[in-house]
Parts: sequence; structure tokens; C-alpha cells
Amino acid sequence: MATLLDGKALARQLQADMTTRVADLRAQHGRPPGLAVLMVGDHPASAAYVRNKERACDRVGIASFGKHLPAQISQAELTAIIHACNQDERIDGILVQLPLPAHLNAVALLHEIAPDKDADGLHPLNLGRLLREEPGLRSCTPAGVMRLLAAYDIALKGRQAVVIGRSILVGKPMAMMLLAADATVTVAHLYTRDLAILTRQADLIVTATGCPNLLGADAVQSGATVVDVGITRVENADGTSRLVGDVDFAAVEPVADWITPVPGGIGPMTVAMLLQNTLTSFCQRLGIKD
Ligand code: GUN
Repeated sequence: MATLLDGKALARQLQADMTTRVADLRAQHGRPPGLAVLMVGDHPASAAYVRNKERACDRVGIASFGKHLPAQISQAELTAIIHACNQDERIDGILVQLPLPAHLNAVALLHEIAPDKDADGLHPLNLGRLLREEPGLRSCTPAGVMRLLAAYDIALKGRQAVVIGRSILVGKPMAMMLLAADATVTVAHLYTRDLAILTRQADLIVTATGCPNLLGADAVQSGATVVDVGITRVENADGTSRLVGDVDFAAVEPVADWITPVPGGIGPMTVAMLLQNTLTSFCQRLGIKD
């Protein structure tokens, strides 16, 4: 039976550590670190994520400058808001919640965020730093996966890792981080044939597709580590709903050695890494040790 990789508990501990640090920084420097979360429209899942991020900021004492913007906002208006955040001395981290409505060009907007305030690590400069294994702000979800695996001493060097999904938010940076940790990395995606042949050889599977039940017991080798980044709301027969990942948890739990729950696995770790990035930006901008 697999042991749970308890992201919720680790995130709570990290937030408790950050709370003390933030209070000290605030006392020494006269202001707390600040994060601006820009959310466009009212996509219900995004609204829930943004609420979580803002609540987490409150808990650790980071000032949050959330802006909830109308779905019809233009590219130029949103660009101007990002530029204003770049200039605002109280703001150390800026995040544009994705996905954006179809009329907005997300890639172009991510270019506009000042790289030293790029709390999501999605600016080309920070992605380039990741590729080159240079220090920089790292994407929160894959950074959260790495932090969770490290907390449980899960070895990566020389191990076979399969990442399912190739998004800029998770799959691509995840693959780069695992490669930097000396894993042998395969990236699978929508057009991959015979996914289960790949995953059955994997010591570590990280899945980030949003397809419930993508992985069952037959897709996982005994002793594997399974990290489920997927999160999808599905209807129960009685009309209520619940959140599920990409993995058929009940089927895979007896086969794997380590597994993340959904919810309570990677979601809270993403939020913890976002707070950590904001703290890191604050320290770097003020020229103090992180
Ligand atoms: N949408 C879902 N997760 C994330 C995230 O971590 N960052 C951003 N910007 N958008 C998201």
C-alpha cells in the first residue's frame, strides 16, 4: 500500500515558517512582501484558486493586491495594469491567473511582467534560467512537486521519470527540473501512443492533464512514485460533486510506493511555492539574504 505524499501538511509547515520570517522582514524593512494576483473574468475554478492564494497571503502576512478584472478587458488595458504593478514599490510578485479569455494573448502578457517580480516563474527569462540551471524564480507547481519529493527523500538521480502533459505551466518546467535532478525524463502528451507502455517503466510519474482516470493500476509498476497534478470537478450520481486527479487513486494506491492525494497533494504546495517566490523577490529587490 502506498504512503501518502502529504502536500497539505508540508505546505502548512512551510507557511508557518514563512509567517515568522515575514513578520521579521516587516519589522526590519517597514513593509511586508506584496503579491498582486490578476484574475480576468469569473472562471469558477480560477476564482477558487485565486481565493486560496489570497487567503494564504493573509495567513502568512504577505500583502495581497488582488485585482479582479472584467472578462472584456482589452490586451492594452491589462498590459497597462501589469506595467503599473511593475512600478509599484509595494508589490514584489505579480501573477496573471491562467487560463485567460480567448481574446487575450497570454504569452504576450507574460512578457510584460518584470522578471524580478515574476512570482509564477513564467517569464521567458526565468524559463531560460531554468533551462540553463541558473538561479531564478521557478514555476510554482513543478517547484512544489520537487519540494514535496525532497521532503520525503525520494531519489531522482538516474531514475526513469515520465511527465504527462507539456504545458508551459507544469509539463515543460517539470521536465526541466527533473532533468536538473539527474532523472531520465520522458515527456508524454495528447499524441503519445501507448502511454501505459511508457508509464509502466517509470520510477516516477507526474501527470498534469485534467483527464480523470487516465492512469489505472495497469499503467503503474510496483513501487513507483505517482504525483497527480490534475484536478477536475466531477459530478456524483446524487448530483453533488467532488475533485479528482488524473489517477484512479483507489486502483493505484495498492500498487505504488508513494502517491499524492487529490485534493491535498500538489495544490497546497503550489500555493506555498508562490508565497516563497514572493518572499524571495522581496529579499532580492531589497538586497537582503533570503
Ligand atoms: N492556473 C492554474 N494554476 C495556475 C498557476 O499556478 N499559475 C497561474 N498563473 N495560473 C494557474
